[in-house]
Order: sequence, then structure tokens, then C-alpha cells
Amino acid sequence: MMSVALAVRAGDPAGFSIPLLAIALPSGTPLPRELAKVDRATGGALSRALKEKDFKGARDETLLAYAKGKGPERVMLIGLGAAVTANGVCRAASIAGRKANAMGVQRAAFWCGASDATTVENAAIGASLGAWEYRDLKTLPPVSERPKPLVSMTIVAAKVDAASRAGLAAGKAIAEGQNVARTLAMMPGNLCTPAHIAATAQDVAKRHGLKCTVRGRKEMTAMGMGSFLAVAQGTPQDPKLIVMEYKGGGSERPICLVGKGLCFDSGGISIKPADRMEWMKFDMSGAAGVVGAMEAIASMKLKINVVGLIGSTTNMPSGTAMNPGDVVKAYNGKTIEIINTDAEGRLVLADVLSYAAREFKPQAMVDAATLTGAIVVALGNTAMGVLGTDQQVVDEILAANKRGGEPGWQMPTWPEYKEQIKSDVADMKNIGSRGGGSITAAMFLAEFIEGAPWAHLDIAGTAYTEADLGSIGRGPTGVPVRTFVEFVRGRAR
Ligand code: BES
Ligand code: MN
Ligand code: ZN
Repeated sequence: MMSVALAVRAGDPAGFSIPLLAIALPSGTPLPRELAKVDRATGGALSRALKEKDFKGARDETLLAYAKGKGPERVMLIGLGAAVTANGVCRAASIAGRKANAMGVQRAAFWCGASDATTVENAAIGASLGAWEYRDLKTLPPVSERPKPLVSMTIVAAKVDAASRAGLAAGKAIAEGQNVARTLAMMPGNLCTPAHIAATAQDVAKRHGLKCTVRGRKEMTAMGMGSFLAVAQGTPQDPKLIVMEYKGGGSERPICLVGKGLCFDSGGISIKPADRMEWMKFDMSGAAGVVGAMEAIASMKLKINVVGLIGSTTNMPSGTAMNPGDVVKAYNGKTIEIINTDAEGRLVLADVLSYAAREFKPQAMVDAATLTGAIVVALGNTAMGVLGTDQQVVDEILAANKRGGEPGWQMPTWPEYKEQIKSDVADMKNIGSRGGGSITAAMFLAEFIEGAPWAHLDIAGTAYTEADLGSIGRGPTGVPVRTFVEFVRGRAR
């Protein structure tokens, strides 16, 4: 994977000989005095644009000017909107990264006035997110015609000190984690197989000295993971239970991060309509989030123990596939009547969650899954659903959502909803009635948490964007890497 090199630098950007200087400005303010020299190099174009209101500083607004002299060749103003926030800086830096890529500019700098650790971190994350592109599967044009991607972005800070250096390091780590996740989510199902996710997890583990164990069908059969294996019985590919262990803390209980890793979800015998079925390659975004978060957490060297767990397979119709009406026995001994084979994510997670809870006795357990279409109906593509049995964990997740710029909204897990998943023949069935689909899915998962303090993130609406969001292009968003990282960070020593 190609990623943009990030650095932090201080001083008047008028002295930086660089093809592009991006300047993020809030609305309704004149050009900051520190930029007087840069303004002069553009022949006063920047202050003029502000004065004439050709550039108002509205969010995502941009204005490009050319400069003379030995400093920046081009200067781009980027609007932050009314207030300067960390998330706003991330967004503006992402636009800078995208524009630089589109313009074929290979080196750029980003100025935003503030230079505390959080701001530098968010600028670094944004720049890297914006510059990310998945080009692996496109035939390259001849060298002479190839667009030149952004290679380096320098964050301009007031001082290069411990704070701005720490911000840069954390930003690099988080962005790298997000881009690992985005690459996995972008890859088609014939390339991003359970074995490929396992290999990526092992690569992360090797680079950071984590323990990583991968189990296949044989091992999981011996362990009695009948729920997970029911989903996997329709595919010849070996399913993978992946466990990554990061030890940055002492002897305290770890946090478990759990991800749904369906490399393709056809629906199985309860097959999905053909229209847009290709989107179901993204059904491993929760798993990608776990791998990405482990990458970030390990390179940030957070002082806490974290275990990442992934259940990965594909959901296929075949002669060996599970059928509606089948009853299977989960790892924790509970029996499940399968009403709809397309409610497969919860069947996989059931066994991974109870395995995580029993094996690691976590202080907190958070799973992420592209679990229900119902969450898209409820919250659209803006917020992830946050559900859980432990309000403390849920509250920390909602705070992590805010810090990470990945909005989340809580939904209830009241006992009334559990009525819907009662079965006549087994301990429960795998779907409820039509209404409240995201809640009944979470109620199902709650049957398998074995008392662990738990929250669940339904990211079906937010892991992938079909619309160009301005700050981020069409494709995988990197959600929920930042939520995971912020949650873990909030509990680290
Ligand atoms: N992976 C899907 C959820 C999904 C659906 C994500 C649409 C994004 C868009 C999940 O496995 C699924 O198929 N869920 C079913 C559950 C239903 C059968 C109760 C759904 O939401 O339709
Ligand atoms: Mn499904
Ligand atoms: Zn699915």
C-alpha cells in the first residue's frame, strides 16, 4: 500500500519552496498576519479574494492562486466553516490531499494556524485520508502520461516541539490504520478472501510484534463453533477465526475488538436480489476496522492490552449451505433456529463474541459489523448505530465517535425487543419481525456476550460511501477505525 509521507515543520510558509501550499481558514476572518508574505507572493490575490468575498471560508470551499518567487508555486485556500474544530481541520486537510492528487502535485504543505497535538494529528490524518487511492487493479497508462500522486505533505505548525511531534506520530499511525482498513474494504471478494484478511492481520502482527493466531474449519469444528460454521458450510474457502493480541499494558484485562468479516454476502439460500449485490464485498468492513485499529494502536504503543478478533468467511448458496429451518448449536451451547440465511453476520459474531468473552475476560468488548440494512433506513449514511448492554461502554463509544469524527447514535436494547427472537424449536431464532431490525440483531448478539461489558457498532450505513463526500471520495471510509482507536485511547494509561 502506498501512503503519503507526513512531516511537521515550523516557520513562515512563504519560505517553503513547494508546489502547493494549502491554507485552511474559518469563515468571516481576514487573512492571518502570519500569511502576509505568502499573500504578497500571490500579488495580494488571497487578501483580495477574501475582501471581495470570492472566498468566504465556507466548509469545503476552495480557491487557487499562483505565486511568484522562491516560495510556494501555488496557494490554495480551503474553507473550514464557522469554527475551527479538530474534525474540520481533518476534513480540510483531506481536501488538500485530494486536490493535490488531482492536480498531480507531488509535494504539498498544509497550514491551519493552530499547532497543538490534536490539531496536528487531525491535519495528518486528513492529508493521508485524502491522498489515499486504490489503484492496484487499474492498468497504468504509459509513464509519460501517468498522473503523479501526492508523495509528501508537510504540516505547518507554530513550533516543532514535543506536542506537534506527538500529534504527527499519532496522526500517522491512525491514518495508516485507516488506510489498511480502506484497502481491505475496497478489494473485491475474489482477492480479499478470509485467507487474505488473515495474511494482512499476520503482517500487521509481525511488523509490530503482536501474537496472531489463525484457526480454520478444522479447529473451529473441534471447538464447537456451530453457529459460525453454519454460515461457512456453503463455501469451499476455509473460514478464519483470527486473533491478534497486543500487550501494551500490565496484567489488567484486555479490551476486545471484534469484527464481522464476510468477504462476500450473497444472502445464501435466502439469496439477495442481484441489483447492487456487488456492494456486499464490503461486508468485511468491521473486520477491516479491527485490523486497521490494531495497526494504529500498536504503532501508537498505547499503554493497554487489546485483543482484536475476526470471524471471516463468505455467505454462499450451495448444496452444502445451511437452510432456513436448520437449528445449530453455538460455541456457548445455545441453540439457534435459522429463519433467514441472510442474517449471517450475527451467526458468525455469536461464536466470536462468546469465544472472546470466555477466553479473554475483557474489561470491555466492542464489535463492529455491517450488520443490518435496517440501520441504513434508521440513520442513513451519516451515523453508525451504537447499541449495548453496558451504558458506561456505550457512553465511552459515543465520546469516541465525537473525537474521531465518526458520528454515532444510540439505539435501545430493551427486553421488549427480545420477544421477537423467541423460537418454537430452539433457544432463539436468527431474525425478528420487520420493525426494529438493527435492535433485534443486537439483542441476538447480546445472547452471546457472556456477561462482558459490551457495545455493538452497526456500520452498514457508514463503512462505505456511494456519494463523494467532498472530504473523502466514493468508496470505503475507514469507519470504524477511529472510533476503536479513540475508545482504546480513552482507557489507556
Ligand atoms: N450484510 C447485510 C447487511 C446489509 C444490508 C448491509 C444492506 C448493507 C446494506 C446483512 O448480512 C444482512 O443481509 N442483513 C439482513 C438481515 C435480515 C435478513 C433480517 C438485512 O438487513 O436485510
Ligand atoms: Mn446477510
Ligand atoms: Zn452480511
